[in-house]
Amino acid sequence: MTPPRERGVLHRWGEYLPITPGTPMISLGEGDTPLVRSVALEALCGLDELWFKLESCNPTGSFKDRGMVVAVAKAMEDGAKAVMCASTGNTSASAAAYAARCGLTCFVLVPGGKVAAGKMAQAIAFGGRILEVDGNFDDALNAARSLTAKHPVALVNSVNPNRIAGQKTAAFEICESLGDAPDILAIPVGNAGNITAYWRGFCEWAELGRASRHPRMHGFQAAGAAPIVLGAPVAEPHTVATAIRIGNPASWTGATAARDESGGLIEAVTDDQILEAYELLARREGIFVEPASAASVAGLLKLAREGRARGGRAVAVLTGNGLKDPDTAVARYVPDITRAPATAEGIERALGW
Ligand code: F0G
Repeated sequence: MTPPRERGVLHRWGEYLPITPGTPMISLGEGDTPLVRSVALEALCGLDELWFKLESCNPTGSFKDRGMVVAVAKAMEDGAKAVMCASTGNTSASAAAYAARCGLTCFVLVPGGKVAAGKMAQAIAFGGRILEVDGNFDDALNAARSLTAKHPVALVNSVNPNRIAGQKTAAFEICESLGDAPDILAIPVGNAGNITAYWRGFCEWAELGRASRHPRMHGFQAAGAAPIVLGAPVAEPHTVATAIRIGNPASWTGATAARDESGGLIEAVTDDQILEAYELLARREGIFVEPASAASVAGLLKLAREGRARGGRAVAVLTGNGLKDPDTAVARYVPDITRAPATAEGIERALGW
C-alpha cells in the first residue's frame, strides 16, 4: 500500500514559501480547508454565489496554523529553542501547539480576562507559558517585540514575514477550488496580517498566470475596534469579537494597500451585526464560528441592506471555530433544553407527543 501523500502547508505549497533544504518539514495537517457554498445567506447578501472558506477546520481551529507552521519551521531552522507571541487567543493556541510538537518552549502574552475560554484551554493544554498582562493586545505585542529583540526567543506574531507567507496559501486554495479568483474576498480585520496575506496570495497567483483577475478585498473591523476605518489608533478597543479587539494593527499599511490596490473597502460592523451574522451562520448554514469570523458575513449583509451589493461571486473567510468561545454561544441563545426521565415514555411526555 502506498502511504498517503504528506499533508500540510509546507508540503503542498513549499515552492511558494521561503523554505530551504534545511527547513524542517513539520506539519499538523494544516491547510486544504473546505470551501463550502452557502445555502441561505447568499441571497440575503445579494450575491450570485457565496462561498465560505472554513479556516475553522485547521488543526487548532483557526487560520493561524497556516502561518504558524512556516514561522515555527523557520525558527527551528535558525536554531531557536523558544518562541513568543502576543495574542487575543488564536495565535497563542497555534503557537503552543506547534511548539509542543517540535519540543520548543512557547511564551504567550495575552490581555488579562479578554481571551475566550476555549483558546485559553488550548494554550494550557499544549503547555504554553502564559503571561496574562494588564493591558490590551497592542500593549502585549509591544512588549513581545521588545522582549524578542533582547532575548533568544523567536517572535511568531504576523509581524514575522513567515507568518504572512504561510497565510497567503489560503488564497491559492480558493483560486484552485473555484478555477479563478472570486469577485469579492470578505475577511475580518484585527491586526491586519491576514488581509495582507490574502492580497499577497491573490497577486502572486495572478502574476504566475494561474488566476486571470484579482478580487476586491472587503475587510471588516468591529465598530468598537475600527482604527483603520477611523484613520487613527483606538486606545481602548472593545467588542464581543475578542479575537479582533485590536486598536493599532501592526499590518495597517498592508491592509490599506490591499483595499486600495484591489478597489475594495474596509468598513466597520457593530457587535449586534456581528452576533446576527454569527446566529445566521449557525442556524441557517449549520456553521459554528467564533464572533470575529462572523464579521466577514456581517459586512456582506450590511452592504446588501444598504443597497450596495453588486452580485458576483464572493468568498467569506471564516477564520475561527465557534467552540473556541462557548461563553458567547451560551449567552446569545435561549437554549432549547427540557429535563426528562431517561425512558421513552418520559421523553414522550416531555415532548408532549
Ligand atoms: N479572526 C480570528 C478568529 C482571529 O483570531 C483573528 C486574529 C482575526 C480574525 C484577525 O486577523 O489579526 O490577521 O487581521 N487573531 C490574532 C490572535 C490577533 O492573536 O489570535 P488579523
